[in-house]
Amino acid sequence: MTAIPSSMRAIVLTGHGGMEKLEYHDDWPTPTPGPNEVLVKVHACGMNNTDVNTRSGWYSKAVTEATTGDGYDSVHEEDPTWGAAPLTFPRIQGADMVGTVVAIGEGADECLIGKRVMNDGWVRNWDDPTSKLGVGYFGSERDGGFAEYTTVNQQQILPVECDLSDAELATFSCSYTTAENLLNRVGCGPDDTVLITGASGGVGGALIQLAKRRGAKTVALASEAKHEQVAQLEPTAILPRAPENLAAALEEATGSPEVTIVADIVGGEYFAELIEVLARGGRYGTSGAIAGPIVDLDLRTLYLNDLTFHGCTVTALNVFPDLVGYIERGEIRPMLSATYPLKDFHAGQQAFIDKKHTGNIVVTME
Ligand SMILES: NC(=O)c1ccc[n+]([C@@H]2O[C@H](COP(=O)([O-])OP(=O)(O)OC[C@H]3O[C@@H](n4cnc5c(N)ncnc54)[C@H](OP(=O)(O)O)[C@@H]3O)[C@@H](O)[C@H]2O)c1
Repeated sequence: MTAIPSSMRAIVLTGHGGMEKLEYHDDWPTPTPGPNEVLVKVHACGMNNTDVNTRSGWYSKAVTEATTGDGYDSVHEEDPTWGAAPLTFPRIQGADMVGTVVAIGEGADECLIGKRVMNDGWVRNWDDPTSKLGVGYFGSERDGGFAEYTTVNQQQILPVECDLSDAELATFSCSYTTAENLLNRVGCGPDDTVLITGASGGVGGALIQLAKRRGAKTVALASEAKHEQVAQLEPTAILPRAPENLAAALEEATGSPEVTIVADIVGGEYFAELIEVLARGGRYGTSGAIAGPIVDLDLRTLYLNDLTFHGCTVTALNVFPDLVGYIERGEIRPMLSATYPLKDFHAGQQAFIDKKHTGNIVVTME
């Protein structure tokens, strides 16, 4: 086994704000695994909006606009993270780590050494793992994968055996666990038609594949420039990002002006149109609000149509192992748009923020 160096390359977040708060270091201390933790030599780590939102402080209630990659004029000190608690700096971000276990801490399973693993982002209280209280996220409440090495609790990783590359594997964890969790929460099954916003993105592409896997019909909303790539996932229909008359567009594309489920990660101004096309008894699930968190809701639509709304973030324990099973059995596929080496992190993050891509962007450690 190769020796573990005492220092490593890493992207270090030094505070809330713009991209200048992300510093490249080539002499950052290599972490040491604590009890029940493993040390992972990272090969690839996917980018996610939560890293951008945490850096910019978008999660703060002081911010009411769409997400951007820049900092905001005003961010409350007490609620700038997903869990509404202050973050400590310096912090290494990066939720979707793929790498090889190279060392273990006290009590961890030595059979894990040498295994290629991916991680569940949820940093749980392992004495009470089903609790949604006191939960953190990898790369937010503890250091993540934008570095050559990282430590993680052994219960938060799983070995994965498949032919996918490290970068392809690093597209899955955050987006697909989020999508699968949302579909579980809204009770998606073969009789459903699911309207998916942001379908060209990481979670949206996952929603198409995972809803299809359950036998549901899928209608993807995406910018027209991305339709050709979204079509590779074979949704039942693809519509523009925000059709002027959504019911008519649905009727033309699917034969029905209604859907039974809206799976939404976009929110913003178009929210009211989405809710209007839900059939009586329909279910709405949200895991994001990239176009803006403040929306118009006509309560009459909600109660008179017997709709159910689900807010979906912390996943149930089975979601990550289920996902690894789908990957190993080839039931879902990665949508890898581009890779950037760690030293070009800022260019990769800018491309991720510009949103001209389809699928996911991944940082590699080569
Ligand atoms: N709750 C959780 O645990 C959780 C986990 C993962 C992600 N999220 C959240 O879910 C959202 C989507 O995540 P993702 O990883 O799928 O994002 P992504 O890969 O960046 O894709 C988002 C998609 O949204 C569409 N979009 C529509 N309106 C937009 C707007 N005003 N600005 C930018 N994009 C817009 C874009 O597609 P078109 O250009 O084709 O319209 C884009 O491809 C984010 O807000 C993220 O923070 C939450």
